[in-house]
Amino acid sequence: MNKQDQLKQQVAKAAIDYVVPKLKQNDVLGIGTGSTANFFIDMLDGHQDKFRAAIASSEASAERLAKINVAVLDMNDVEQLAFYVDGADESNGQLQLIKGGGAALTREKIVASIAKQFVCIADESKWVNTLGAFPLPVEVLPMAREAVARQLESLGGEPVWRKGCVTDNGGHILDVHGLQIADAIKTETEINQMVGVITNGLFALRKADVMLLGREDGVQIIYPGLGT
Ligand code: 5RP
Repeated sequence: MNKQDQLKQQVAKAAIDYVVPKLKQNDVLGIGTGSTANFFIDMLDGHQDKFRAAIASSEASAERLAKINVAVLDMNDVEQLAFYVDGADESNGQLQLIKGGGAALTREKIVASIAKQFVCIADESKWVNTLGAFPLPVEVLPMAREAVARQLESLGGEPVWRKGCVTDNGGHILDVHGLQIADAIKTETEINQMVGVITNGLFALRKADVMLLGREDGVQIIYPGLGT
């Protein structure tokens, strides 16, 4: 296993230690998507009796949860989640995130929206001063792809269609390169207003509540604005 995966595994274990003791029998857990979230799912095996069920942010995570016999619910049947645990592609010191490298951004944002606490788990390569070096994923309705791309260019970015990628919602992804996102709430709001956009991968209006960051010298627990 490479160093980055070792760090992802460490933060997944830290998330188990952070979340599981706080769970109540009737709680529903929100589970994200990606390789870090997968480590977390695998480590939930053995803890199925500590909570009622899960909501997954992708079909892939739902299948992985089902394999370890975690009940996966429809979100329409759930009002609130005790925790949402998910990775990120970038985080700044405010715990504003870029997500969607795995194309699950829309469902991730929806699941995060009903979580009491969003626990982000990431290795230190994801920690940045300014968001935007990682191309910002924007999910669009397929018919609006080029129209949205032209509007994204007006923000100073260079949108690139992630060819061959169709999301769980039937959407397409534009990855916007070259943005330096100084005001993440403003950029998230502006892109949300573009007709044809389903979601953008900025998580600033609903940022993470706590970050478990895997570093060479151990896992650091970070709260918004407190830095490392
Ligand atoms: C998927 C995501 C993931 O959280 C993000 O891409 C990080 O993935 P990984 O844990 O594999 O590095 O937003 O849409």
